[in-house]
Amino acid sequence: MYSVLLQISQLSKVFNRRTIFSDINFSLQESNSLTVTGINGSGKSTLLKIIAGVLSPTHGHVSLSISDKQIDSKDRFQQIGFVAPYLQLYDEFTAWENLAIVRKIRGMNIDDGYLISLLRRMSLEERKDELVRTYSSGMKQRLKYAFALLHQPPILILDEPTTNLDESGHEIIYDIIEEQKQSGVVIIATNDSHEVRLCEQVLDLDKTGRYEVNKVLA
Ligand SMILES: Nc1ncnc2c1ncn2[C@@H]1O[C@H](COP(=O)(O)OP(=O)(O)OP(=O)(O)O)[C@@H](O)[C@H]1O
Ligand SMILES: [Mg+2]
Repeated sequence: MYSVLLQISQLSKVFNRRTIFSDINFSLQESNSLTVTGINGSGKSTLLKIIAGVLSPTHGHVSLSISDKQIDSKDRFQQIGFVAPYLQLYDEFTAWENLAIVRKIRGMNIDDGYLISLLRRMSLEERKDELVRTYSSGMKQRLKYAFALLHQPPILILDEPTTNLDESGHEIIYDIIEEQKQSGVVIIATNDSHEVRLCEQVLDLDKTGRYEVNKVLA
């Protein structure tokens, strides 16, 4: 078992002189889960991208330590699984090739059996040798989960987690979130009232100027 500590300090983001949010502070440890909520354009995706390290903050910083070891910000992505509508898959490759390419690029020591088990979990095993460009939008969303879980990351960040998914897809994702809550950290961005309650804490970006993390009320 590892310990995880993700600390968000005085985080602000300004786009073209428009302040999206400012002075966000919170910290999450293993077994903590957070939902980020707020109206369209309130900055949910922006915040998740900054935490994942794909976007820089205007002020403030994100720090991550795993088992008391500080992780360099350029290596943070290795500790994070990220699923989001704007993340791209390699369309001209099959699902299997997509996973195998990432395994190779990242030098991961993962056997084929584990890749198959991920595809099976997402109900994609039978379609694994078909080009991703021929996939339906829900199948693409399922493949993004196989990607995100490939390296069994201590932190899972899910922007609109169930976009394009059917009912069975929702159930699979809710199970994945529950499992992640056992040992790691999970952060989701959603406006779905059911999904807000999947996490123990909530950060509401509509409460301008008072970004407090609150317990989700039962
Ligand atoms: N690259 C960018 N350049 C300029 N402004 C941007 C950029 N990305 C996002 N914004 C602005 O930042 C604000 C927050 O956008 P963001 O996508 O984070 O919102 P959101 O809460 O995820 O919205 P939604 O619920 O629609 O997904 C919006 O006003 C948006 O126009
Ligand atoms: Mg968004």
